[in-house]
Amino acid sequence: MGIMDKAVASSVPVIPRPVVRKIASRYIAGGRLEEALETIQNLNGFGCLATMSVLGESTQSESAATEKLEQYKRIVGALEANDLKSGISVKLTGLGLALDEDLCRENLEEIVFYAGEKNRFVRVDMEDSSYTAATLELVLDMHERHANIGAVIQAYLRRSLKDVTRLAEAGVSVRLCKGIYYEPREVAYKDFDTVRQNYVLLLEELIKGGSYVGVATHDEYLVWHALRIIHQMGLTKDRYEFQMLLGVDEDLRRILVNAGHKMRVYVPFGEDWYEYSTRRLKENPKIAGYVAKDVIGSIAKAVENRRSYGGTNDGTSAVQERTIPGLVRRV
Ligand code: FDA
Repeated sequence: MGIMDKAVASSVPVIPRPVVRKIASRYIAGGRLEEALETIQNLNGFGCLATMSVLGESTQSESAATEKLEQYKRIVGALEANDLKSGISVKLTGLGLALDEDLCRENLEEIVFYAGEKNRFVRVDMEDSSYTAATLELVLDMHERHANIGAVIQAYLRRSLKDVTRLAEAGVSVRLCKGIYYEPREVAYKDFDTVRQNYVLLLEELIKGGSYVGVATHDEYLVWHALRIIHQMGLTKDRYEFQMLLGVDEDLRRILVNAGHKMRVYVPFGEDWYEYSTRRLKENPKIAGYVAKDVIGSIAKAVENRRSYGGTNDGTSAVQERTIPGLVRRV
């Protein structure tokens, strides 16, 4: 990320929520399950598989974790009823990991069992490094009883090389991504190229170890390396798939699908859109352009309103309300 992008990314928290919602709507399938189902139907029509996720982070109570579990069961039921090609992605803190590991284990086993009966796959998203060990232990343990569960490995973590060896030995399917959480240097590589190099190393280790790999990236350099490995090792389609986030680089998505590769799209939906959206916006260097457009649009509208209504004199115009400190000067 360049200096400009970093400055823009660090300004994301001060962007007004309505602006975040508007810009981030491309990354989210909507607030309701029906909207997410429709999105998946469209993706299936374009030759993509999906994995559906409910927005929202850590649950604060046992009852909230149980509600999340029930919600995931409803989702699995709806995917089945609508004959959609999609699994689900779950966050363990949503199922109670931060409250009680045993509660989380029970909830996870229930959803994995339920999904397994309907031939659906459950991918366990990876959260920040304080949960890495517990998450991997739970997935490895559950994988001994249920084949329809898979893990996520983050290439920025220093520990990941050891983790992929264990997961490959156990035959666990792995989604490989760079990692999105802020981590201290002790636990994570900070340099962009080092993370990339580690991604390629982990990918090679996973493939050599026999794991099914979900190559989850929009970074064309990494996609190229994956294609190189697929070519050099003569991998068949039962060994890997590409994975991308909803709303990100649909051109690349199409190119890979048209080239005959399996592609799965991560489809989040729900009312708790803010945290997921800000993470996506921080990743997107083009955000400055969108924000600028929105702010300029607001200014133009306000000027127009002043012309029509003679303006305000109380100093609290729409322009001031929508002004984003730092960003406006830069874009
Ligand atoms: P990078 O961030 O370098 O992006 C490469 C290019 O892709 C950019 O230059 C830009 O063009 C485009 N791009 C990337 N993000 C964009 C955005 N939001 N909007 C517009 N363009 C964008 N992380 C994690 O910690 N735990 C997890 O469980 C998961 N799960 C997961 C599932 C799937 C299917 C994907 C694709 C990703 C995740 N991630 C994740 C997120 C992942 O760790 C990472 O943060 C993002 O994928 C961005 O990294 P890239 O590899 O795409 O590279």
